[in-house]
Amino acid sequence: MASPCWMHFLFIFLSLSLSSSTSYNPIDKCWRRDPNWAQNRMKLADCVVGFGSAAKGGKGGEIYTVTSPDDNAVNPLPGTLRYGVTRDGPLWIVFASDMKIKLEMPLFVTSHKTIDARGSNVHISNGPCIRLFNVSNIIIHGLNIHDCKASVAGNVLLSQSMSLGMMDTQDGDGISVVTSRDIWIDHNNLSSCADGLVDVTLASTAVTISNNRFSYHDKVMLLGHSDDYTADKAMEVTVAFNHFGPGLIQRMPRCRHGYVHVANNNYEPWGIYAIGGSAGPVIRSEGNRFVAPNEEYKKQVTWREDPNGNRWLWKSVRDSFANGAYFQPSGKGKALPNYSSQQKFKVFLGTLVPLLTQTAGSLSCTPNNPCL
Ligand SMILES: *[C@@H]1O[C@H](CO)[C@@H](O)[C@H](O)[C@H]1NC(C)=O
Ligand SMILES: *[C@@H]1O[C@H](CO)[C@@H](O)[C@H](O)[C@H]1NC(C)=O
Ligand SMILES: *[C@@H]1O[C@H](CO)[C@@H](O)[C@H](O)[C@H]1NC(C)=O
Repeated sequence: MASPCWMHFLFIFLSLSLSSSTSYNPIDKCWRRDPNWAQNRMKLADCVVGFGSAAKGGKGGEIYTVTSPDDNAVNPLPGTLRYGVTRDGPLWIVFASDMKIKLEMPLFVTSHKTIDARGSNVHISNGPCIRLFNVSNIIIHGLNIHDCKASVAGNVLLSQSMSLGMMDTQDGDGISVVTSRDIWIDHNNLSSCADGLVDVTLASTAVTISNNRFSYHDKVMLLGHSDDYTADKAMEVTVAFNHFGPGLIQRMPRCRHGYVHVANNNYEPWGIYAIGGSAGPVIRSEGNRFVAPNEEYKKQVTWREDPNGNRWLWKSVRDSFANGAYFQPSGKGKALPNYSSQQKFKVFLGTLVPLLTQTAGSLSCTPNNPCL
């Protein structure tokens, strides 16, 4: 006899076992139970899934400790964050204490770097923020990035071995990823910036954006530079286990060209739309939880800039919808990410997303304890 009662108990059991393990999603499960995380920091680099899973950051390099919140964009002193991120070769960057860093100019991070704020409460705010330009293998973990400002034109040290770059004015993104690959952005709090919170543009690819908490911002995440910039057709981005809200309006994400896997994210009500775009991107929305705003005309998750958008391949699979939210699918095909075995991860039902994302954002970890 098929017993709905049995299934009901099985469901409760599964939910409880998820919550009693503090809702670890496949990324967190890889490291958060380890009480010795502070001695094994580089293990984090083995935990990334999705298109960014080749991002090793500074694994294999030395540990560099930031001891001062000061910044000098042209001649950074040892002990500052900018000194660390501009060194040649791999570095795993950690913080000696809690700090608030106000940058003079955007922070250009060179290849093979991890910025790992676990164990400290680190804010990058009230100035220009982070720029990944023409680099690879970057991990950004555990930062609070907010109130980022546009920057004026001026000199900035791009790397130890390059001469100074004269930088044009910059828009004031939280993290902008430009012409870069193998990037992992995990467990950060991002809010209230002058431009986007995370932008991925100009032929960047192999990016995973996971476990972040986005709040109080209009244009949250742009993937793809412009409709004319067709090199972004090769872009592949995974957006997973993030919490979107409160206080967000649109672009979670806004996609152009390329392929975007949006999986197991939790959406509080948006202001205009959640997922949208132009120029024919392929979008697979899988196992997300969408809570629509109360206004009748804002219930649609999706937004297409172009009326031809009803031909693009946008697919919703096992998403969960609340308060009248609905996803307008289009096109024919499965829109599979075709992940390699290293990139692949388990995507849960949308209804389990509140548990899987409840600790999205920067964590407060203490050495010799699991990072709950
Ligand atoms: C990008 O980096 C490569 C080296 O990795 C260099 O040859 C090239 O000139 C850089 N491009 C720009 C626009 O800086
Ligand atoms: C990160 O965001 C969450 C949710 O808003 C908040 O509870 C937490 O305190 C924030 N962390 C820091 C260090 O500001
Ligand atoms: C996955 O494979 C299918 C079938 O070959 C293809 O149509 C699709 O574009 C692939 N997806 C990605 C993200 O490359």
